[in-house]
Amino acid sequence: MVGVSIPLMSRHHTISPGQTFSNPVTGERFTFTHTAVSTGGELLAFDLALRPGGAVPIPHVHPVPAVRFGSRLVSPLADAPVLVLGATGKIGRRVLERLRAQGIAVRAGSRAAQPRFDWDDRSTWAPALAGAPAAYVPFSPDLAVPGAAETVAAFAALAVASGTRRLVLVSGRGEAGAERAERALQESGVAEWTIVRCSWFNQNFSESYLLDSVLDGEVALPVGDVAEPFVDADDIADVAVAALTRDGHAGCLYELTGPRLLTFPDAVAEIGAAAGRRVGFVSVSMDDYASAASAAGVPDDYLWLLRYVFEETLDGRNASLGDGVRLALGRAPRDFADYARDVAATGAWRR
Ligand SMILES: NC(=O)c1ccc[n+]([C@@H]2O[C@H](COP(=O)([O-])OP(=O)(O)OC[C@H]3O[C@@H](n4cnc5c(N)ncnc54)[C@H](OP(=O)(O)O)[C@@H]3O)[C@@H](O)[C@H]2O)c1
Repeated sequence: MVGVSIPLMSRHHTISPGQTFSNPVTGERFTFTHTAVSTGGELLAFDLALRPGGAVPIPHVHPVPAVRFGSRLVSPLADAPVLVLGATGKIGRRVLERLRAQGIAVRAGSRAAQPRFDWDDRSTWAPALAGAPAAYVPFSPDLAVPGAAETVAAFAALAVASGTRRLVLVSGRGEAGAERAERALQESGVAEWTIVRCSWFNQNFSESYLLDSVLDGEVALPVGDVAEPFVDADDIADVAVAALTRDGHAGCLYELTGPRLLTFPDAVAEIGAAAGRRVGFVSVSMDDYASAASAAGVPDDYLWLLRYVFEETLDGRNASLGDGVRLALGRAPRDFADYARDVAATGAWRR
């Protein structure tokens, strides 16, 4: 393995297979075996199995993901895309958009994508990982479900064997199952891991199962006055992208929360105020909630998960702020009021 840094003549520079460059430090000449792209940096950093001296293509290439080099972002190899699992989900979609906006090659991971990725079908994992230097890993449906840690361990082992060097796992706060999965990642032998451990997402109210209730004017949940530091999907995606594309996040476990504790009734009241309409909150028993969900067609295994989330994790254990956004990005997390204002302005909370 050889690390080389090559000054580029211009922005958006593409290097084709077969082109040769001199290492400015040692003077050795190298031949590129893969296409590479710079998205506007002055330097392109590689960590490839480059053979000095000639034009002989090298069969085994170990690219690194995009890295910060000096103050510039450097893209990964164009044919070694960053794998984004959950690419159609609330966070994955945002991660994908951000990487694309930076000109970074991506591969969307979803049951609808090609190649298809399905947590329940291990034969789909290797094609999704092929050539990927880094991967964003949100487990579905949730790390709390039995067997999730073992699945994450198996995926991480395959990623290591496939040459993936950087894994970014999304996790949940206060969940024993999630902590087992975090340990599985930490012990997987992957060169660089980052854990993004999140509180409840703001976007559950606007892009997920609570949207219909907000539109109906009443949110009924089996929670009382427990306080939760709701976190914004944009902050989570920003942290995940930083961890995927820049150095300095390996071995970090970030606790991501918003800047403020709110009860669920508080959050719903802020949504109503921002949307300019009445949205009420009703606290219901877990049994009544589960019966209503079951009558609405929610399958039994998902009911188990809902019960776990509401009964186990919303008991006050997460009623504290985390500093993950500031640690990872050097800025404050987004406030719930800003989220509510921006969503209301899109009209998403109006029928
Ligand atoms: N929501 C919260 O408040 C919260 C809080 C803490 C942690 N988390 C965790 O954060 C992670 C991301 O959540 P999210 O809200 O962004 O997800 P989401 O919006 O619910 O989307 C789920 C994603 O997972 C994919 N998916 C579902 N089943 C799959 C399967 N069997 N195989 C492969 N992909 C599958 C879906 O893609 P396709 O349907 O296209 O395959 C979709 O892209 C999850 O691990 C979640 O448990 C969530």
